Amino acid sequence: MMQWKKRILVTGGAGFIGSHMVRLLVNKYADYLIVNLDKLTYAGNLENLKDVEDAANYSFVKADICDSDAISEVFEKFQITDVIHLAAESHVDRSIEGPKDFVLANVMGTVNLLHVAKDVWEGGDHVFHHVSTDEVYGSLGDEGLFEETTAYDPRSPYSASKASSDHFVRAYYHTYGLPIKISNCSNNYGSHQFPEKLIPLMINNIVHKKPLPIYGTGENVRDWLWVVDHVQAIDRIFHEGRVGESYNIGGLNEWTNLDLVRYLCRILDEKLGREAGENEKLITFVKDRAGHDKRYAIDATKIENELNWTPSVTFEEGLASTVEWYLNNTDWIEQITSGAYKQYYEEMYHNR
Ligand code: NAD
Ligand code: TYD
Repeated sequence: MMQWKKRILVTGGAGFIGSHMVRLLVNKYADYLIVNLDKLTYAGNLENLKDVEDAANYSFVKADICDSDAISEVFEKFQITDVIHLAAESHVDRSIEGPKDFVLANVMGTVNLLHVAKDVWEGGDHVFHHVSTDEVYGSLGDEGLFEETTAYDPRSPYSASKASSDHFVRAYYHTYGLPIKISNCSNNYGSHQFPEKLIPLMINNIVHKKPLPIYGTGENVRDWLWVVDHVQAIDRIFHEGRVGESYNIGGLNEWTNLDLVRYLCRILDEKLGREAGENEKLITFVKDRAGHDKRYAIDATKIENELNWTPSVTFEEGLASTVEWYLNNTDWIEQITSGAYKQYYEEMYHNR
């Protein structure tokens, strides 16, 4: 085997954030081997990685993180030195419909990976980087920000499963000395995001003149971060962050859902040559999400001060490039929004 400087296992690399993570690592570190392990659930798509799939420092393995034997084999075969763990069930609405899948993938899958890493790595220079979410902190009122020290208070089955996985990651550090790092990020947007999440769903519906379903009053607030800035932050933490620490990653970019959807409508009125205000007429208020968290907002002071990371683009720039990507990649969207997704979408939204 070639003498790679690191041999990094990226889990969930065929998904939205994972594919951006793999692309960054493969292109930036020619002396690292990047092994992408993904089960290819509905959310995993190897099309996302077409541009790097032939790279000499990239390998793909189709496997489930819950399968101990498969994970042990991958550690053995590729002599894995580090893990960046992104594989998860990631959609809050789906977690409300079926929490058990989230426990299996997010909790059991994470414990499984931790355990193999603990058994295989004995001392030496390793990192197990766990990618988590700000949703573990619960919901904010009008004031305040999530800090790394904010008490965990997850409220959806998705965030409860991610919070649980974070606790296990920390437990493996304290109990077995596994060299872990955790990052908790706000809402991501960008290319290759599955169109069940707010921004790609709205872009796709506007293009097709379909209703734009706003849950409740649309006053819930999210902090939006460009996915490329997120994976750059992970790269920084993975290489320079302190072992055993958590880092919050955010964009200082809060929007109510309604304002954000209206903004997308205006961008696309212009892009699609429609009359000003035409897309806004598609906005439809639908039944609220059960237990809908009111507001997420991140205090990113720790990563800014310790690791000198800040977002590289404004929201206006990031969103413009994102809209452009979806308009230029209609085949990608068509492929995904047919079949099983179509049925899911119709059940989720048309019955609300
Ligand atoms: P995604 O749903 O787009 O991708 C998840 C990937 O994991 C898919 O490729 C899927 O096939 C794979 N996967 C799922 N279960 C698996 C299993 N059992 N074994 C192997 N692979 C499996 O998700 P995403 O939005 O890219 O999120 C990636 C990670 O980042 C998740 O851990 C998520 O909790 C976290 N995160 C996401 C956001 C966000 O805004 N999307 C924000 C903060 C943190
Ligand atoms: P989402 O993209 O599912 O991310 P998360 O729930 O993890 O924050 O949703 C973002 C926000 O948009 C959330 O407040 C729910 C709301 N939302 C809608 O109003 N309509 C929709 O069709 C979707 C998917 C989300």
